[in-house]
Amino acid sequence: MKKIIFLIALSAVELVHSQNPLAIPPTLTGTTFNLNIQNGSESYFTGNPTPTYGINGPILGPTLIVNKGDNVTMNVHNTLTVPTTIHWHGLHVSAMNNGGPHDIIASGATWSPNFDIKNDAGTYWYHPHGAGKTELHVMKGIAGMIIVRDNIESALNLPRTYGIDDIPLVVQTKSFDVLNQVYVGDHMDTSIFVNGTIHPYFDAPSQVVRFRLLNGSSMRTFNFGFSNGMTFTQIGIDGGLLANSLPMTRLQLAPGERGEIVVDFSALNGQSIQLMSYASEMPDGIFGATTVGIVPDVIDMYANNFLNGADFKIMDINVVSPTTTPVPVTSIPTALTTYTPYSAVNVDVNRTFVLDTIRLLPNDVPNLASGPFGINNHTFNMDSINVIVPLNSTEIWTIINKTHIAHPFHIHDVQFNVLEKNGVPPVPNETGWKDVILVMPHDSVKFITKFTDFADSMTPYMYHCHLLHHEDDGMMGSFLVIDPSASLQEIEKGEMDLTVYPNPSSDLWNVQAKWNSETTIEIHNLLGEKIYSKKYSHLNENEIISISSLKFNSGIYLMNVNSGNSFETIRLEKK
Ligand code: C2O
Ligand code: CU
Repeated sequence: MKKIIFLIALSAVELVHSQNPLAIPPTLTGTTFNLNIQNGSESYFTGNPTPTYGINGPILGPTLIVNKGDNVTMNVHNTLTVPTTIHWHGLHVSAMNNGGPHDIIASGATWSPNFDIKNDAGTYWYHPHGAGKTELHVMKGIAGMIIVRDNIESALNLPRTYGIDDIPLVVQTKSFDVLNQVYVGDHMDTSIFVNGTIHPYFDAPSQVVRFRLLNGSSMRTFNFGFSNGMTFTQIGIDGGLLANSLPMTRLQLAPGERGEIVVDFSALNGQSIQLMSYASEMPDGIFGATTVGIVPDVIDMYANNFLNGADFKIMDINVVSPTTTPVPVTSIPTALTTYTPYSAVNVDVNRTFVLDTIRLLPNDVPNLASGPFGINNHTFNMDSINVIVPLNSTEIWTIINKTHIAHPFHIHDVQFNVLEKNGVPPVPNETGWKDVILVMPHDSVKFITKFTDFADSMTPYMYHCHLLHHEDDGMMGSFLVIDPSASLQEIEKGEMDLTVYPNPSSDLWNVQAKWNSETTIEIHNLLGEKIYSKKYSHLNENEIISISSLKFNSGIYLMNVNSGNSFETIRLEKK
C-alpha cells in the first residue's frame, strides 16, 4: 500500500514553525581554500539544541567552485577535539591528497593537500572518511559540494548563477536521540534536511532552474520527483554531463550519487509544488523502500521508520517572478557533451568483488539484510592492502552482490563506465562517468575504468559501500596503484627491510625480512592474478619460495608482504 506522508505528520517534538528558507551554502572560489572544521549548534527541535559539526560555519561547508586545470590548495584545519578526515569524493587526485582513512587530521592540525583539478565540469563533494566515524561525522554536518567548471559546460546555455538559478541541494536524512543529539545507532533517520535546513522551502524563479542534487545521507536512497508530476531534464551524473539531456519524472539517487537536473518553472508563477521522494515506487532491497531483505532477514527498526516505502516531501517550492539578472534561460540544450567510454577491447585486468556477509566476531550470526558485510570475505584493515593495480591498467571490475540489500559501490581515484547491470547495458542516466553505482540484491554490475596516474607504493585508495554505516563497519577495501616499471628501490618502502634474491631468478626466491608474528606473502602477476598466497604463523629467517613450476611464466611479478602493521611490495622477475 502506498503511504503518503507530509511533514506535518512528523514527530511531535519537531518545532511547529511553518517552514524555513532553504540555506544556500556560501561559495569559495580561487585556488586556495581555507576550510575550518568546527563545532556548531542548531535548534531544530523544541528542548535541547543539537550539537553539530560544520566547515566555516555551524553545519555543512561552503561550496567550492573550481575550474578544470586549476592547481588548488586546500587548508583543512580541524578545530574539533576529535580527529577527522576530508575526502574529495569523485575528484581524480593522488592517493596522498585524496583524504582516505590514512590522512587523519588530528585535533588542532591542518592538512594542506595540493592538487590539479582534472575532472570534467560537474558536481562533486567532500566529506570525512575517518576510521569508523564517517557516518557520525557526515550526519553531524561535515559535508560540502564541489562544483567543477570547464569550457565544454560553460559553452552551453544552462543556468549557472549560483543560488539564483543554479541551486545546490544536499539532501540528507538524520536520526536524533531524545536529547536531540545526532544518533547513528538506529535506523530511524526520519528528519529530512536540505543544505542543513529542516522543513525547507525554496522560492524558485519562474524560469529554467538547475538543481544539483547530492544524496548526502548515510543509508537512504531517494527517488526524486515533483508533486505535480512535471517532467524535468537530467543533464549530469556523478562525473559530469550526460551526452544528451534526458527528460524524466523520477530520478533515483543512492548515497554518494549526484544528479544535475534542470526544471522549467516558467508556467508555474504563483504556484507551490513539492520536491518529493517517491520511495513507494522503489524496488525492495533498497534502503528506504517498503521492506528490505527477505524475511526473516530484516533490519532492526526498519519497519518503524515511516519514511521507508512512503512518498514524502523533501522541500516546498514556491514559484515566484522570474529574474531580470541573470537573463532567464528559456530552453534546455539537448546535446551536452561527447561521451567516449573506455573500450572493452584491450582490457588488462578483470577483477571480481563479492559483497557478502562476514563474521566479525566468532559468535556473529550474519544477516543478509543487516550484515555485518565485507568485500571478498574481508573487512577493512588500515594496515593491509587488498588489491594492487598496475599503473595504466585498463580494468573491468565485476561487483557481485550476494546479500538481500542493495549496496552503492564507490571507488576512489577514478570515474568508471558501467558496462552491464545483471548482464544488460546500463540505463541512459547511468551511461556516462560514474563513481558510485547501486548494486541491487543478488545482482551484479560490471564497469570499466583505467588507472592512468598517481602511482604510489605506500598510500592506498579505497573502494567501499557508500552506505556509511556499512563503510564504518568495514565494507571497504584498499588498493595501491603501482608503477611496475619502477625500480625495486622505488617500490620497496616501510620498515620490514624486505629483500628477495636472486632477482631475476628462474627457480626460487629467497625472502628475507624483519617479520612480525603473522605474515602473508602474496605474489601477483601483472594481470592482477594471484599466483601465490600463503599465510605464515612462523617464518624462517630465509623463506624460500619455489618458482620453477609452470604457473610462474616468465615475466614481472609483484610480491606483497603483510606483516602485522607493515606492508611492503617488491617487484620481481622470473626468467
Ligand atoms: Cu564519498 Cu570513499 O567516499
Ligand atoms: Cu552496503
